[in-house]
Amino acid sequence: MSKSLQSSASGFEAPSPYELDPPRAEAPALSDRARPLPRISIQAFCETPDVAEAVHAASEDRRLSKTHVTIQMGGTAAAVAHYQESPTPNLIILETHAPHASLVAELEELAHSCDAGTKVVIIGAANDVVLYRDLMKRGISEYLVAPVTAFDLMECLSNLYNNPASDPVGQVFAFIGAKGGVGSSTICHNVAWTLSDALSADITIADMDLAFGTTGLDFNQDPVQGIADALQNPDRLDEVLLDRLLTTCSKHLSIFAAPVVLDRDYEMTPEGCEAVIDVVRQNVPFVAVDLPHTWAPWTKRLLLQADEIVITAMPDLANLRNAKNIVDLVRAARKNDTAPHLVLNMANMQKRPEITQKEFEGALGLETLAVIDFDCENFGQAANNGQMIEEFNAKAKSTQAFRDIAMALAHRKEIKVEKRSPLAPILDKLKRMR
Ligand SMILES: Nc1ncnc2c1ncn2[C@@H]1O[C@H](COP(=O)(O)OP(=O)(O)OP(=O)(O)O)[C@@H](O)[C@H]1O
Ligand SMILES: [Mg+2]
Repeated sequence: MSKSLQSSASGFEAPSPYELDPPRAEAPALSDRARPLPRISIQAFCETPDVAEAVHAASEDRRLSKTHVTIQMGGTAAAVAHYQESPTPNLIILETHAPHASLVAELEELAHSCDAGTKVVIIGAANDVVLYRDLMKRGISEYLVAPVTAFDLMECLSNLYNNPASDPVGQVFAFIGAKGGVGSSTICHNVAWTLSDALSADITIADMDLAFGTTGLDFNQDPVQGIADALQNPDRLDEVLLDRLLTTCSKHLSIFAAPVVLDRDYEMTPEGCEAVIDVVRQNVPFVAVDLPHTWAPWTKRLLLQADEIVITAMPDLANLRNAKNIVDLVRAARKNDTAPHLVLNMANMQKRPEITQKEFEGALGLETLAVIDFDCENFGQAANNGQMIEEFNAKAKSTQAFRDIAMALAHRKEIKVEKRSPLAPILDKLKRMR
C-alpha cells in the first residue's frame, strides 16, 4: 500500500480496527511503493553493468510497461554526443562517477542540447549533501547513490510522475477462475464487500464478463450499462462520466456493471480495458476486477497489470493444471511482484475424490490463501437473495475466509480485540499490590 493511500482523504484512509501490515523485508513489498508510469520515453546512459542491469530489470516491470526504455553504455560522454544529433526524451538517466566539479561541467554541456521539459535523474557514487543540493538547484530531478536496485529506480521514477500527495492511485485486484464456474465472481464480490465494510474504504468492482456477468444480480441491483459504455470510448472516460456509469451499492461499494446483453458486439482491446481500469483506480483506493474464464489478450493484460491476483480453483485435476499454467505465466512475467494468491473453493464436498490442499501447494509452489468449503445452503440462498454471504448469515464459515483474503490483498491485519474477564481489574490491582 502506497504512502499516499494511507494519508489522503475521502475514502483513501483505513480506520481501525485494521492496521497496515508491518513493512515486509522482502523485495516485493518495496515494489508496492512504485506506481505505474505514464507513456514516456526514457533513455539511460550507464557506466557500470550493475546500473545497466537495474535499469533493464525496472524496464521489464509491469509498472513501466507503457514507457519506452533504451539503455546505452558510456555515461555522460555518450549522452552528450547522442543529444547533439537527436532530440532528448522525456527522461534521461545518467550514471556518472565524475567528481563534483567535472560533473557540473558535464551537465552544463549536456544542458545545451537538452529540450526544456526533459527530466534528468543522476546515479552517482558520492553520498554528498552539498553535491545533491547543487544538482537540485541546477534542475536535476533526482540524485540516487549507487548501488541502485530496480526497486529504487522504480520508486524514484514513480515519484517523479505521480505526486503522492495529490495523485492517489488505487490498488487493483484481479480475480480469475482456473476453470469456468468455480466461484471466482462470488469470491470477488464477497471479498470486495468485506473490504468496503471492514475498512470503510471505497472499492469498485469492475465486471469484465460483459455478456454473462453476475455483479448486478449478486448485489440485487438493476444497474446501468456501465462498463460497456466506458469500453466503447475509453478516451472519453473521465471522473464525471465514471460517476454516471457506476452503480452505488452501499456507502463504500460501487459496481461497474456488465450490460449482460447478447445482441451487441463488444470490442475488447488490451489498451481499452487498461485505460478504463486506470481511470477507475484514479478515483478509488481499491478496484476489484472480476475476470471471466476466457483467455484473450485483454484478460491477460488485465491480469498481469494487477497489483494482486487471486486465482480460484476447485480441487480437481483440470483446475490444478490450469492454475499451474496461470501461476507459471504470472511468475515469469512479474518478477518484481509477490506470487498470485490461491483460493481453493467448493472443497470438502461429500463423497467427491479431491486433490488435497497440500498437493495443490506442492505443484504450484505457493501457500493457499484460503480454503472455502462447498456450502450450497449459504451460497445458494445468498445468491438467490442478491446478498453477500455475511449479510445472509454472519455465522457462515466462509465469512472468515473472505475477511482473510480481503486483509491479505489490502496488506492489512485484523487487530484482535482481547476479551477481558470481568475480574480483570481486580486481578490487576492485586498484582500491583504484590
Ligand atoms: N463454496 C461454494 N459452495 C457452494 N456454491 C458455491 C460456492 N462458491 C460459489 N458457489 C456457487 O457457484 C456458482 C458459480 O459461481 P460464480 O459465478 O462465482 O463462478 P465463476 O467462477 O465466476 O463462473 P464464470 O466462469 O461463469 O465466471 C454460483 O451459483 C455460486 O453461488
Ligand atoms: Mg465469473
